[in-house]
Amino acid sequence: MHLERLRSHQQNMPKTRFVIAVDGPSGAGKSTICRALAARLGFTYIDTGAMYRCVGLAAREAGIDADDRAGLEALCHHLDIRFAPANGENRVLLDGRDVSPEIRTPASDTWASAVSRVPEVRRALVALQRRLGEAGRVILEGRDAGTVIFPDAELKIYLDADLAVRARRRHAEQTARGHAVTLAEVERDIARRDLSDSTRDHAPLRQATDARRLDTSNLDTAAVIAAIARMIEETEGTGNQHGD
Ligand code: DC
Repeated sequence: MHLERLRSHQQNMPKTRFVIAVDGPSGAGKSTICRALAARLGFTYIDTGAMYRCVGLAAREAGIDADDRAGLEALCHHLDIRFAPANGENRVLLDGRDVSPEIRTPASDTWASAVSRVPEVRRALVALQRRLGEAGRVILEGRDAGTVIFPDAELKIYLDADLAVRARRRHAEQTARGHAVTLAEVERDIARRDLSDSTRDHAPLRQATDARRLDTSNLDTAAVIAAIARMIEETEGTGNQHGD
């Protein structure tokens, strides 16, 4: 039960900032892991990918193209993006509207990736993410959490997994949501987005030099959480090495 001990240890130090930055490609398990860890540690969970998804959706609805940089910048400054944890899920509110299902469709993957290449969008969202994170005990997940948003995060983790494993996970998620896609389509789409996310000029996906890499290809959720709990303990120097 060492996560519970870590939680109370953290709660006894309410003024201590502790930022956990989790980066990695699509399907590495970031959302599942971060959501579960945040709930168990009592940390605030910030899903930065959901914020790019909101900008993609809002741009689509407003008829703003991904190459209209000024239009996107103005849009970002007027958007109100909030997270509302509910029943173990993280609902995403865009201007007060729950857009959680809409920002997870296959089409929204493409819009989010397109707007995430725009420097004006990144600047606006990074400023917002820093404000949300400054509060203290937070877990941020994304592509640039440890390299750009919080380069001084107390703990940086890079979650990765083989492409075939990531595609299987995403495919299961998409079909559970009722989207008719084949495994081959999902794998092709993830490979395309990997390339786009890691080769863009601004804040490309890469592992921070001081990030701990964790390959989740052969690990289940409980094993990944246990591994990260050990990293938190080591980082905090609590010396507590008991198993879950
Ligand atoms: O993690 P995700 O699949 O929800 O991210 C959606 C898109 O946003 C994806 O193409 C990567 C991009 N993104 C980004 O560029 N920077 C982040 N910090 C988070 C996501």
